[in-house]
Amino acid sequence: MFWDNRVRSLEAQVLEPLKALEEMRGMAYAEDAAVDRVVARLQAIPEYVSLFAAAFGSGPIVADHLVSAIAEFERSLVAMNSPFDRFRAGDTEALSEQQRRGMETFDDVGCDRCHEGVMFSDFDLRAEGVAEHPLLTEPDTGGGRFRFRTPSLRNVALTAPYMHNGVLETLEDVLRFYNTGRSENPNVSNERGRRGDRTTPRVDGRFRGIDEMSEGDMQDIVAFMEALTDEEFDRAIPARVPSGLPVCGRIER
Ligand code: HEC
Repeated sequence: MFWDNRVRSLEAQVLEPLKALEEMRGMAYAEDAAVDRVVARLQAIPEYVSLFAAAFGSGPIVADHLVSAIAEFERSLVAMNSPFDRFRAGDTEALSEQQRRGMETFDDVGCDRCHEGVMFSDFDLRAEGVAEHPLLTEPDTGGGRFRFRTPSLRNVALTAPYMHNGVLETLEDVLRFYNTGRSENPNVSNERGRRGDRTTPRVDGRFRGIDEMSEGDMQDIVAFMEALTDEEFDRAIPARVPSGLPVCGRIER
């Protein structure tokens, strides 16, 4: 999980955003103090103390409780009833003609070399040479040599902006990027390397040769990706939370 594949379970994932500067920690305290500070804050809110006691038994809240609670919530966010899933289950009307065309083009042009299988991901690290985010003070090398994890495309129409650093605004922009077939990152070479050269960052071999899509092909692929949306999973935003902090989020109600 994460764009650099650094954790292997939901339980290990949960604590990372609390510790990450760009996500929840900010500058307030050091990375190794972040989790303890969060647990202490929860412990100071009586409503959380009683909710945790109801779930985990009495006694102080510990990081493991926080981990289990959020990991279980994440496990409930299953989105496997998209039009694409219904089509695969035999409902031939579930996809429009354009979406069916897009599904074939997706495979024909080679998107499925990496976005493969039921999650549309090989879960592997691959370099595409996405442009650096303009606000970063040093380049983000991802999981090494500017490789980032192939993201799942399920519900991708709901999760703009795109790529590991959000530099592409729309799915059309992503398609246009693939259609140039070129790294836009000066640190990632477009040249093929010598066999066995594993040191120079280069675009992935599977990234090459997708650059001959017509405008219509790209529109069809976008329409297909829109058929990967399952509207039914729980997108509710609570009216309030026990901390009293303002409730935010970009999910449409
Ligand atoms: C070489 C393997 C590979 C191929 C081939 C590939 N992708 Fe990707 N895709 C990735 C990786 C890796 C990323 C993340 C790149 C990054 O952020 O640096 C990505 C990102 C994306 C994203 C952004 C998802 C998000 O949540 O931000 C979309 C959409 C996408 N690809 C669609 C496609 C389509 C459509 C094709 C075919 C035209 C395609 N991909 C071909 C590996 C691949």
